[in-house]
Amino acid sequence: MKTTVVTDGIFRLSANVDDILFESIWPIPNGVSMNSYIVKGKKAAIVDGVCDWDGVPETLYEQLEQMKIDINDIDYVIMNHLEPDHSGWFRSFLELKPDVTVVASAKGADLVKYFYEYEGPVQTVKTGDTLDLGDGRVLLFAEIPNVHWPETIATYDQKSKTLMPCDAFGSFGSVGEKMYDDQLEPSDFDFYEVEAERYYANIVGPFSVFVERAIAALADIEIDIIAPGHGIVWRKDPGKIINDYIRYASYAKGPAKTDVTVLYSSMYGMSEMGVKPVVEGLESEGVKVHTHKIPETDWSYALASVWQSSGVVVCTPTYEYKMFPPMAALLEEVGRKKALNRKAFRFGSFGWSGGAQKELDEIMERNRLGWDFLEPVEFRGKPRQEHLDLIRQRGKELAIEVKRWVNETA
Ligand code: FEO
Repeated sequence: MKTTVVTDGIFRLSANVDDILFESIWPIPNGVSMNSYIVKGKKAAIVDGVCDWDGVPETLYEQLEQMKIDINDIDYVIMNHLEPDHSGWFRSFLELKPDVTVVASAKGADLVKYFYEYEGPVQTVKTGDTLDLGDGRVLLFAEIPNVHWPETIATYDQKSKTLMPCDAFGSFGSVGEKMYDDQLEPSDFDFYEVEAERYYANIVGPFSVFVERAIAALADIEIDIIAPGHGIVWRKDPGKIINDYIRYASYAKGPAKTDVTVLYSSMYGMSEMGVKPVVEGLESEGVKVHTHKIPETDWSYALASVWQSSGVVVCTPTYEYKMFPPMAALLEEVGRKKALNRKAFRFGSFGWSGGAQKELDEIMERNRLGWDFLEPVEFRGKPRQEHLDLIRQRGKELAIEVKRWVNETA
């Protein structure tokens, strides 16, 4: 990958990875990019970095060579965020340039010692602090805690009005030759939007309150370019990704889209017999339906689907007097991600005593999810026609509820 010019005096270095689980959890079949930026005045700073996976730091060093930048000429490493997908390379960088000055928040400065046993010079910054690189290039810092970790800051170049916010405004999806929004075709935007929605739901979603606070805190800064730590750089229309993130954050409390996600599990096909009628009921009201079989569908996609849906159907049987375990685990994760206040409906089969409904109620309570459920439909063994008819009817009722909620708040 080649180094590119973001704007006068700011250069983008990047590495894609695609053969890993991101955070050792989330599949990234379309990869993810990790972006660093060199900002040059009289002095030079590197803002963020890359992971330490095989060959990735070396990619960064090759790109520095392309720019004819000697590592010894880098005066500052600005660590907006310490998660090792951005900071992992620092260990190898230290071997090349042990006397660099780290710039980070106070919490970041603390963590860099624990992650990298770093005892060198650190300049701690807080909101409103600046760093003068010379030649009229002054960097301004803003704390944006919990977007994505407590220590996170954003770095803003006042000269070019470029914001480098690390995880904020990022997305999954590798970046190729076209890495700026002014180079993308409509189909590219569609690709990155899907990747950004899943990235948001998987990584940033639980911190949506902090995303809203960060966007409010940055509102007084004039932003011409957004250069995030993942994904494409926005320099034609940075407002698009800001508005997208405002929308994604709003999905936490709902309503989200006029969509319904059907999460279904079935051990021997009896619970699953209700999926077709519930989808028919939902679609009879014109809502968009997304079905995900659990555990066959990876959590990442099921979570992203729930995040964007105002309604959720949970189809799950009882298993050992409780809920079918993969569905229970998924719903616990939905709880941790704080996808609140959905319109919902649950149905499923039991053989002996039941128990899935009780565990569902416990998960909802424990995670304070606030989902508003229609009356469940449970059946012993195979559903009879009256159960299937009732499930279809509940699907229709749920779709009506979802549409009413979305329209009320539009
Ligand atoms: Fe891309 Fe929270 O690290």
